[in-house]
Amino acid sequence: MLCVFKAHLILWASFIRYWNMALLSKTEFYQQTLAQVKALITDETDLIANMANISALLFDALEQVNWVGFYRVHNQELVLGPFQGKVACIRIPLGKGVCGTAVTSASTQRIDDVHQFQGHIACDATTNSEIVIPVKLNNDIIAVLDIDSTSFDRFDKDDQQGLEAIVNALAYNLAQQQTVEY
Ligand code: SME
Repeated sequence: MLCVFKAHLILWASFIRYWNMALLSKTEFYQQTLAQVKALITDETDLIANMANISALLFDALEQVNWVGFYRVHNQELVLGPFQGKVACIRIPLGKGVCGTAVTSASTQRIDDVHQFQGHIACDATTNSEIVIPVKLNNDIIAVLDIDSTSFDRFDKDDQQGLEAIVNALAYNLAQQQTVEY
């Protein structure tokens, strides 16, 4: 009986949470999500753990996304890091695909229709739009945050700004450390 009551309580809590999120403007949503990210990573120095929690948080909070994760720059290529979603390509050469382009151009790639992006790497054929944000530490790019959606035009300027702020929080956390292992 107690278990049934608890299950109802959990269901209601998640319903209220999703309802609250749905009522937020995009700016408020990203302010709230950034605060949650900062709370998660502030006292944690392990990069992989922080990437794992950021992926999980964003995958849960963002609507219409089918993949959220990080690729790390390692030995002159991108290697799959913590993510949420279906299995994905493991290694991407720098300069290739949307992810590799984000590294070599040192800039966010916001792609409304991936089928129009020459060299797009389709890990999941159902993906139609994508955003990739480089993680910068000092003058190096050490990783990218990649988010995919099955909707076209899923990411606008507000999403870009909000997600860049989240990536900056991760970069700031790294920059505070004496020695960084990545
Ligand atoms: N589409 C990416 C590859 C990674 S997956 O989307 C997870 C790209 O073109 O680089």
